[in-house]
Amino acid sequence: MKDVAQILNFLWFKFKRRIFSNSEDELEYDMRKYVHALEKSRPGKKRHLYKLLRAHEVYKEALKRDLLSQSEREWCERIIFGEDFSDDKDAESEIKRSEEDIDGVIKERRSVRSFTDEPLKEEDFEELIDTAKWAPSACNRQSWRFILTRNEEKIRRLGEVRGKWIKDAPSCIIVSIDMNAYRETENDYTSYLDAGAVIQTLLLKVESMEYGACWVNFGDAEVSSEARDEIDDMFSLPESHRIVSIVPIGGFKSKPKPPGRKDSSSLTDLEEYEK
Ligand SMILES: Cc1cc2nc3c(=O)[nH]c(=O)nc-3n(C[C@H](O)[C@H](O)[C@H](O)COP(=O)(O)O)c2cc1C
Repeated sequence: MKDVAQILNFLWFKFKRRIFSNSEDELEYDMRKYVHALEKSRPGKKRHLYKLLRAHEVYKEALKRDLLSQSEREWCERIIFGEDFSDDKDAESEIKRSEEDIDGVIKERRSVRSFTDEPLKEEDFEELIDTAKWAPSACNRQSWRFILTRNEEKIRRLGEVRGKWIKDAPSCIIVSIDMNAYRETENDYTSYLDAGAVIQTLLLKVESMEYGACWVNFGDAEVSSEARDEIDDMFSLPESHRIVSIVPIGGFKSKPKPPGRKDSSSLTDLEEYEK
């Protein structure tokens, strides 16, 4: 029994030492990982106490280094200390949602490729991301990043790489993801899914703000590695980030007619895939 206590003590000491020597990036990564693990656990479940101690340790260090936004702090405290932010819940429950509004925004969103010279305003960019960031991400990693450019030269170059019409866009959002976000599983797949979720959420918000935008792929099939390196440099992207898509955006001249959609009956099955 004494040996077990000694081993546990040693492991705990090692864990603490790792947390203290973590870089800010690593600490943020650990904070999300451990608090999320605790969020999914319950008292009495296997290793719950260990998860609680671990999350608390990372939270304390992140707090000390001033790495937490207000909402992250509240999230950590709710999970670790069981704090109840019921005022916020009341405020949330007052948000009125109408099914027609949601259906309208989803169905009326179009891929817009013809713009006026009105760029996305900085305050609208903020509002856009304030909403888009509520997209789901695996383990709540939120490893996305958005750069707004309104620089003609940069947009012209993006157009040369990805399609002439892009050159006439008054602004463009560069969406990148941190490829180290799921480093424990070396899982690129999840990062790309997160990016897809946030881009679609962003496009719905764009629709509701009455701008026009189009999702433009930025994969290896479309962008040579030389062009990718050049564009990465143009936006001072860190090594760990990868541009997954660009979103030309602005006031729009015209909105395309809705491209047809398949019949829902051809997309759905009950119980088994029917040929
Ligand atoms: C992952 C993804 C990549 C896309 N890439 C491009 C692109 O490179 N260029 C483009 O003009 N449109 C692109 N689109 C837009 C699609 O062509 C468009 O969504 C589709 O034709 C349906 O039209 P709608 O968006 O107006 O409903 C992309 C859409 C998605 C989801």
